[in-house]
This record gives sequence, structure tokens and C-alpha cells, in this order.
Amino acid sequence: MRLVFILIGPPGSGKGTQADMLCEKFGFVSYSTGAIFRNEMARGTAIGQRITPLMDKGLFVPDDIVMEAVIGRIQKTRRNVILDGFPRTLVQAKLLERFFQLAPGRFLPVAIEIGLPMREVYRRVSGRMSCDKCGKVYHVKFRPPRLTQRCDKCRRPLKFRSDATRAVVKTRIKVYQKETWPIVKFFRQRPIFKFFSVKGAQSIAAVSASIIKIVKKIT
Ligand code: AP5
Repeated sequence: MRLVFILIGPPGSGKGTQADMLCEKFGFVSYSTGAIFRNEMARGTAIGQRITPLMDKGLFVPDDIVMEAVIGRIQKTRRNVILDGFPRTLVQAKLLERFFQLAPGRFLPVAIEIGLPMREVYRRVSGRMSCDKCGKVYHVKFRPPRLTQRCDKCRRPLKFRSDATRAVVKTRIKVYQKETWPIVKFFRQRPIFKFFSVKGAQSIAAVSASIIKIVKKIT
């Protein structure tokens, strides 16, 4: 049975950071819907052009585009999977549940909520930089690269994200509270999902330790 870890939490809670750690430590494969869509935008594909005005404002990508991007990837791989940033609406969560119900005995879905007080979100998101080659994520204060604004691995210049302005982050928080909060309750209640919650307002290493404990308990 394949494990599907679902990381859920507000912007900046550390979903991407912890997904990278899990991939390195356990050899899982991670699908970040945000990264998938930023890549579509950078390549200027038809999907990229459709979603750019939404992403730039901090609004969600339509559910049909998201479902197609994620389900195909889960089906194609044979490895244990991490979903970083999906599902994010109740519609997506219910469609994902349906997908698991139609494949009994094939997947064990494990939802992990990374909680973070909203006042911390801007500090995290505004200092975030990443490498556009390998995707590694840094923070000016909490996880600085060894060389100023250069990736430790690729040595390429690091970039800030276009959706990290104060106004856009405000929208992302509002959309999270309205659309994504209800999913936490949904995961808690639906028997098909195992549900865990960890505190995101700790050091990166402490959050990792809490998540590793959960993974070891499950595997
Ligand atoms: P996405 O890219 O998923 O953005 P997000 O959820 O807003 O989350 P972030 O990537 O900003 O944060 P994170 O939780 O991954 O934290 P990170 O590890 O980077 O989505 C972007 C957009 O895509 C959405 O707004 C939407 O438009 C669209 N989209 C994506 N999925 C969608 C879906 N399913 N449906 C519809 N639309 C969708 O950490 C943040 C920073 O903090 C880093 O600099 C890191 O180094 C630092 N940090 C991490 N952990 C700690 C810690 N414990 N202590 C101190 N610093 C830390």
C-alpha cells in the first residue's frame, strides 16, 4: 500500500521545507501544486497564461486544473507521495477522497496539518528565497544560504516570489482561512484519512522531528 502524505497549512508554514526534508530522508516524491503552476507560468503554456492573473493576486487556481495536475502524477509514480499545497478547497478534498475510495487498498492517505499563527506568516513569506534550478528554499534570516543570495547546491542567484508582497500575502491568508480551513475539519472527520497536527511555530529542525515521528509511526 502506498503512502500519500498531505501537508496542509497556511502560507509560509513550512510545507515545502518539510516536503524537501521528507524526500531527502525517506526517498518520497513530492508534488507542490504551487511549484507546478509557477512552472506553467514561467513556460508561458496555455494553462500558465490562464492562471497568471489569479496566482499574481494570491487567488486559487480553478479546481479542474488542479485535479488534473495532481491525480495524473499520483497515478504515474510507484513511490510514496507527498502532496504539498493540495487539496486546498473542500471540492478538491472530496474529489481526492473519491479517488482513494475508488482504489481500495492501494493508498494510505495521511494528512499532516502544520499550524502557524497568522501573524508569523508575513515574516516567513517575505524572507523566502528559492533557486529556480533545483527549487531549494531558503530564508534571509531563518535559513540563509552560505553565500549571499546564491544557492548552496547550484550557485545560481536566488529569487524572491512575486506573490510575497504584503497586499498579496494578505489575500493569501484570507483565502486560506475561508477555503482551506474547512478541510482540516474534513480530514479529522473522514475515516479514510489518518490525521495529525504539528506546531509550525518552532525551528525547522523541531518541526522536522515532529513529522519524522509521525512517519515512523505510520511506516
Ligand atoms: P504555494 O506555492 O503552495 O504557496 P503557499 O501555500 O502559500 O505556501 P508557501 O509556498 O508560501 O509556503 P510553505 O508552507 O511551502 O512554506 P516554505 O517551506 O516555503 O501556492 C502558491 C499559489 O499557487 C496559491 O496562492 C494558489 O494561487 C496556487 N495554488 C497552489 N496549490 C493550489 C491548489 N491546490 N488549489 C488552487 N490553487 C493552488 O517556508 C516559507 C519560508 O519560511 C521559507 O523561507 C523557509 O525557509 C522558512 N521556514 C520554513 N519553516 C520554518 C521554521 N520552522 N522556522 C523558521 N523559518 C521557516
